[in-house]
Amino acid sequence: MHEKDIMNNRSAIASTAFLLAALAAPALRGQAPATLSVELSRPKAAVSPMLYGLMTEEINYSYDGGLYAELVRNRTFRSDWTGILNWFLIEKGTASAKVSVDPKEGPSAALPSSAKVEITKADVNSPAGLLNEGYWGIAVRPNARYTGSLFAKSDSQGTLPVRIALVADQSGQVLAKASVSVTGSGWKEYKFEMQSGNGAASSENHLALTIDRPATLWLQLVSLFPPTYHGRPNGNRIDIMEKLAAMRPTFLRFPGGNYLEGDRIATRFDWKKMIGPLVDRPTHPTTWSYHSTDGMGLLEFLKWCEDLHMQPLLGIYAGYSLGGQVVKPGPDLDPYVQEGLEEIEYVTGGTDTKWGAVRARDGHPAPFTLRYVEVGNEDSFDRAGTYDGRYAQFYKAIKAKYPNIQVIATMPVKGMTPDVVDDHYYKREQGMFEEARHYDNTDRNGPKIFVGEWATREGTPTPNFGAALGDAAFLTGLERNSDVVVMSAYAPLFVNVNPDGMQWSSDLIGYDALNSYGSPSYYAQAMFASCLGDHTLNSSVSGAGTRFFYSVTSSTNKLCVKLVNASSTEQPVSIALNGIGAGTHSARIDTLKANTTWATNTITHPERIVPVKSTASIKGERVQHVMPGYSIQVLQIDLK
Ligand code: AHR
Repeated sequence: MHEKDIMNNRSAIASTAFLLAALAAPALRGQAPATLSVELSRPKAAVSPMLYGLMTEEINYSYDGGLYAELVRNRTFRSDWTGILNWFLIEKGTASAKVSVDPKEGPSAALPSSAKVEITKADVNSPAGLLNEGYWGIAVRPNARYTGSLFAKSDSQGTLPVRIALVADQSGQVLAKASVSVTGSGWKEYKFEMQSGNGAASSENHLALTIDRPATLWLQLVSLFPPTYHGRPNGNRIDIMEKLAAMRPTFLRFPGGNYLEGDRIATRFDWKKMIGPLVDRPTHPTTWSYHSTDGMGLLEFLKWCEDLHMQPLLGIYAGYSLGGQVVKPGPDLDPYVQEGLEEIEYVTGGTDTKWGAVRARDGHPAPFTLRYVEVGNEDSFDRAGTYDGRYAQFYKAIKAKYPNIQVIATMPVKGMTPDVVDDHYYKREQGMFEEARHYDNTDRNGPKIFVGEWATREGTPTPNFGAALGDAAFLTGLERNSDVVVMSAYAPLFVNVNPDGMQWSSDLIGYDALNSYGSPSYYAQAMFASCLGDHTLNSSVSGAGTRFFYSVTSSTNKLCVKLVNASSTEQPVSIALNGIGAGTHSARIDTLKANTTWATNTITHPERIVPVKSTASIKGERVQHVMPGYSIQVLQIDLK
């Protein structure tokens, strides 16, 4: 179901005259009544239109086994002492075969090895071959078209038919099938398509590649995609993209995070190895303990931005890797500065530039708009203390060539004022309540702030309702101060909920091979982004408990009031809308609430906590409102 449908289907249309009614079931009344005064004719500060965006990196199987829709796990046949990972031998009936890695046979310089399948005995009734387990299964949906490809060569005279099938793990039923005829002893790419039938959607399936005669077959880059978002080849999962779209993000910070830096310089996000045909991408180990296919490369990130109308916010490698390797500022750093400039050219350059032409070769002649570049990630961890020099060197080079790009620093920089500084917050609920006031007194003459990573870390794999309350409270602080906090993004964005899928807990969106769900924090953020306004209003609150938070913004046609009651009991609020006049205004109220802070959504109970929509009519300037205990509300009041 689409996210907007969830919001709509849950609508409990409760139209009341003149006041906003409490949505809660009867609860203990404990909070003293609060008064919230809003001065509609006294705008205070501008709200950044880019306040809400996304941050992403390869962590928790975010792309491989996540957003990137590839169904085959370890499509490049990496192995360890146990054998080829995620692939298993098939020997049906009397067939006999073995499989090994051939380090000398591969289709490209990037992929110089392959799986060598030696079949000594096989026939039509006793085929042999390989099975791939997928990312904790392979989702097969009814009447879906699957698009695949593989590189192969064989020692057979003539043609060697290779049968490809999606097979149900338990029944052995073939759910979709295709075949390719491998010809000749040289490497070639073979493409195929297969269509599933009417059966129910399931992820307890595997991929089987089989042969019905003795032969030796070399395989590399075996790939299979389901239908993808916007039908993009090498594209993204539809359900997850729809969840992101419902958040209305304005930018995407990529590719990290620690993933940008790598454990070592050699394992950084080396963008030149992540463009062009997949067969030319060598893949690489990530800092999050698993290997990346690099199918989600630089251009795929940019297309993701294009699909969701987000601006790219490009993190460039800045000479520091997590294991402690640092490139000294000065001539040693020059090649990395050059690499960053070339990356910017790949993103923004016309086809008459060297790297813009490469992007066109890769299928995207139109340049992308890039306004923000971030130099490194969390460089306060650099014990050698070299960031001042490294940032300055990147800043100078970027500004010389791209004066309009805002250059984000990952920490304050001595000797200069960066355009924007990236602050990160990972705290428990209580800590985030405190941080909700962090920027109230920030110097407005200093750099702008990008809260490039933040999360209330309670709940695993995804945050619980207590975390959503901490998140919503924190966001009220960002909104109130969004003249200085120009952008923000929760992190991490994704988690594959299967065993070993998670390296970092409290992640916004969870999924397995078949399904995905939004955490309470996800819904809180979607609600906040649904009514942003373009300026804050002068306002004040009195009488509220310490766990009450709010922000008020407006634009010509609407007033957005965000309220967070993080106490377990109802919070009566008398809202004075000074200046709205004596007339009647319609209002929409989105409410997210739970009975305990530990309540949450899961992959098996994905919609326990979702926004409930109601409507109301407001007459005059005084509104008596009662917030349920443990609730987050967005009141959108029509000012027309
Ligand atoms: O979001 C998880 C990690 O937290 C990021 O990779 C890193 O930047 C931060 O320390």
